[in-house]
Amino acid sequence: MRIDDALIWAEYTLVNSDSALLDAQVLLAFVLGKETIYLMTWPERDLSAQQKLQFEDLIEKRVNGQPVAHLTGEREFWSLPLKVNNSTLIPRPDTEILVEIALTKSTVNAHILDLGTGTGAIILALASELPNAVCTGVDFSEEAVQLAIENRDSLQFNNVSIYQSNWFENIQDQFDIIVSNPPYIDANDVHLKQGDVRFEPLSALVANEQGLSDIRHICEQAKHHLKEGGCLLFEHGFEQGALVQAILRENGFINIKTEQDYAKNDRVTLGHLA
Ligand SMILES: C[S@@+](CC[C@H](N)C(=O)[O-])C[C@H]1O[C@@H](n2cnc3c(N)ncnc32)[C@H](O)[C@@H]1O
Repeated sequence: MRIDDALIWAEYTLVNSDSALLDAQVLLAFVLGKETIYLMTWPERDLSAQQKLQFEDLIEKRVNGQPVAHLTGEREFWSLPLKVNNSTLIPRPDTEILVEIALTKSTVNAHILDLGTGTGAIILALASELPNAVCTGVDFSEEAVQLAIENRDSLQFNNVSIYQSNWFENIQDQFDIIVSNPPYIDANDVHLKQGDVRFEPLSALVANEQGLSDIRHICEQAKHHLKEGGCLLFEHGFEQGALVQAILRENGFINIKTEQDYAKNDRVTLGHLA
């Protein structure tokens, strides 16, 4: 089978995916061990029998809903190649907004904490931009911690510590910036039955109190771990901006602000410690 024919077959087979051609390209490039540009450059090249079998197997798994990132074991975030697995969230493009805003609040040698670091996406993106910052990422899941450590080590960042902690439980230090993309989805949200989230752990997605319990807990504790004037930033659901603002206000934060994502939905709310 030729590369162009394989892509036509796969796009047709993936009728239920919103991104059928892109999925097919990423998976075929993965099978061939090449960049996707190779597929456009050499459409007439033949797949070996083994490559054809492997590609068909991946397309079948994708038809059954498995996320492309789980099939390739990798996802790019902030132009950093990150390993992913089913212990935590697959990093989403919208989370880059949180990184962009955190960067505007950071000095070159800031002490930065990422709560619920998962793959390490947020803290590694920040560390890539701020090589003199002192960066820490923590997660409750031991498996996620191992994954984030692997990602840090393969990127060779030497300014990032990663360890296990139930939110602030094992954290002694004080920080200029605390960022978090915590679980914020309500357990009854219909979106939990759709798309990639079906294959991601509920521990990375769901929180009590209509999805706000972890955000509330972090707000209550963050004041003990932020330096004076320090900034706390959350990613949250598109309908949670006003609620997160209220929680920050109740906990004494000032200069509170909500920012929108690329689709103009409320996505990040931040506040400063007086
Ligand atoms: C929405 S995911 C975000 C992952 C990553 N920061 C990202 O943006 O791609 C939330 C993360 O919080 C972690 N988490 C959940 N409860 C936690 C807790 N009590 N303490 C620390 N981390 C927790 C989960 O294991 C998961 O990795």
